[in-house]
Amino acid sequence: KIKIGVISALREEQAGLIEIMQDAVTDQRGMRDYVSGRLWGIESVCVLSRIGKVAVAATTATLIESFGVTHIIFTGVAGAATTDVRIGDIVVANQLVQHDMDASPLFPRFEVPLTGLSHFFSDKPLSSLISQAAGQFINQDFPETISEANQREFLIDRPVVHEGLIASGDQFISTSLELNQINDHLTGVLAVEMEGAAVGQVCFEFGIPFAIVRTISDNANEDSPVDFVQFLEKIAACYAFGIVRQFFSL
Ligand code: ADE
Repeated sequence: KIKIGVISALREEQAGLIEIMQDAVTDQRGMRDYVSGRLWGIESVCVLSRIGKVAVAATTATLIESFGVTHIIFTGVAGAATTDVRIGDIVVANQLVQHDMDASPLFPRFEVPLTGLSHFFSDKPLSSLISQAAGQFINQDFPETISEANQREFLIDRPVVHEGLIASGDQFISTSLELNQINDHLTGVLAVEMEGAAVGQVCFEFGIPFAIVRTISDNANEDSPVDFVQFLEKIAACYAFGIVRQFFSL
């Protein structure tokens, strides 16, 4: 029987979901609230992980071991890692890498020691459903659910859904130098964030299918602290809720 775990780092990335859950019951584990219930009729557990790889790894393992979820979806924001990806676009990961993992010379750079892997693949069927949901959110809910002022302020024209590589690390990328260092060593990175690849590793280790969907909040450069906060305050919740709602209606 399907039971979907929905993780976000911050409240703004999951706003609205918990409120509409049917028969919601909250359990505290490891300083986090796990809210179990049904979303649009489907058994689900919603939780906020807080920021970073350790925070989300603990949350993911708990969702799997204590709550018995069969699938995991992570929704949140990310910084753009290339100029093809713009603020307001949506990135669905097909694979993820931990850009700050470096046990060289013992293991190749980026390889997670003793897994033999540097890149963790998201579940194809689940990710394509999420991509489809993101597309429907853009085509059906957009622009009605985002005020014109916010669209103008954030220069969101018509968002695009991208699928590709997401790089995660315990680092908020706020200079082009930091971003360039990541792109110097990894090819094809579309977005940078701080949790996805850790979800990927834990789900790989437990054999649980997962998908990561990120809305671009900033360009991972000197403007990102301001852009990130503004986007989070004004738009992130609308995207997250809209995409997840479309997903559950597929
Ligand atoms: N999440 C959103 N923007 C980010 C950035 N610039 N660096 C890391 N994580 C992010």
